[in-house]
Amino acid sequence: MTTAWAHTNIALVKYWGKRDGASSGLNLPATGSLSMTLDGFGTTTTVTLPPDATVDELVLDDEPIAADKETAARVFEFLDLAAGTTKRARARVVSRNQVPTAAGLASSASAFAALALAAARAYRGAHADALAPRELSILARRGSGSAARSIFGGFVMMHRGQRDDGTDCFAEPLAHDNLDARLVVVRCGTGKKATGSRTGMEHARQTSPMFPPWVETHARDLADARDAIAKGDIEQLGEVMEHSTQKMHATTFTARPAFWYWNPVTLAVLSEVKSLRDRGTGAWATMDAGPHVKVLCAPVDAPNIARHLEALHGVVGVDVAGPGGPARIV
Ligand code: PMV
Repeated sequence: MTTAWAHTNIALVKYWGKRDGASSGLNLPATGSLSMTLDGFGTTTTVTLPPDATVDELVLDDEPIAADKETAARVFEFLDLAAGTTKRARARVVSRNQVPTAAGLASSASAFAALALAAARAYRGAHADALAPRELSILARRGSGSAARSIFGGFVMMHRGQRDDGTDCFAEPLAHDNLDARLVVVRCGTGKKATGSRTGMEHARQTSPMFPPWVETHARDLADARDAIAKGDIEQLGEVMEHSTQKMHATTFTARPAFWYWNPVTLAVLSEVKSLRDRGTGAWATMDAGPHVKVLCAPVDAPNIARHLEALHGVVGVDVAGPGGPARIV
């Protein structure tokens, strides 16, 4: 029995769209990305290999998931990858998300990072190479692009890579001695999103005229964000972070047919963030495949920003997260 814990992460410079389309199981991104791993939020996953098991089993947040459900199929396929060339014994996977109720934070990042670590250890325990962080990052990527980043703590850079086999497409941590930051996570609604990130990014890639410029301008954003982290310049980081998220969402507004993740509360929060900034508070916003807004700021400003945003009509709740640590066996 092996249990692993991984934190979730939020992309400051986004991954949005696969290099090779949706068909390849390699999950190769069209662009690199850069994220902050969040303390407090995450997933614990236990992988057991019962000697007499004849089928795989998945229990998610205390609920058994039927084998024909997409989530179960994705997890069981992932176990094949994690087992590698070792004998693929049937497994029981028990996974629990530790995020505030209805936080709407992407759980696939922490879920596949924790599963990669627990399953690699369960199947290949004796092979130290299989547990090297870079190998784990490559493995986690096969489950979900953003999961590759959750293997590491703090600020994390995901390399796009060039090779078709994906061996140069992995994440690694960035030194950030000069920068401490918080993300104020603002929940702008409840309920499940209508378009998952996989479907959304592929539809945008295929139909939005904004997709090619999104890819072409991406390297510059990554370089600027990286530079900002090295210098400890939160203003530069916040500015490029907002620019990246707006470009990502522009590909959804301009897809055919168009779709969007925002709701009216998202826009109200965005306006308030801008007006806080106009009044001199360093605050910058980013959104993923859902309506919630995450606001980057210096630790000292977080309580005030949280208070302001919590008071807005329609906001369901607010949490403050700092940089979290790497995935680990518990
Ligand atoms: O890892 P996926 O397939 O859920 O895609 C993540 C997409 C975004 O959250 C919108 C951006 C990102 O880089 O995390």
